[in-house]
Amino acid sequence: MAEKAMGNAIAPYSKFKVGVAIIAKNGKIYSGCNIENASLALSVCAERVAILNALSNGERSFKAMAIVANDRDYCYPCGACRQLLWDFAKNLEIYLKSEMGVKKFTIKEFLPYAFSKDFA
Ligand code: THU
Repeated sequence: MAEKAMGNAIAPYSKFKVGVAIIAKNGKIYSGCNIENASLALSVCAERVAILNALSNGERSFKAMAIVANDRDYCYPCGACRQLLWDFAKNLEIYLKSEMGVKKFTIKEFLPYAFSKDFA
């Protein structure tokens, strides 16, 4: 599903296409692609599109995410996405796929000493 989503990427500026799939604990899978905009700063990463897609469909518990890009190298999520993923999925497994194979990480590895706060 991540690869299929990559095919929907809107990346006319960077030409860097990213596709993501996130699986909820109930087994449902949601995908996302990066969407760029002429006002470049408004571009959104595939990771954020995917998790916001899942959240807006009512999901609140997540197991794993797959990330692919049209690049030789692995596509590591940016810092902003790491923070968002951490906020909503503290035990998330993250699988990166490239032509070199699949590598598994966790969001905890990607964001040590993360900011976390319950505004209760
Ligand atoms: N991008 C993602 O969608 N995910 C990442 O993990 C890294 C970067 C997008 C943002 C932009 O559209 C393009 O890739 C180049 O940075």
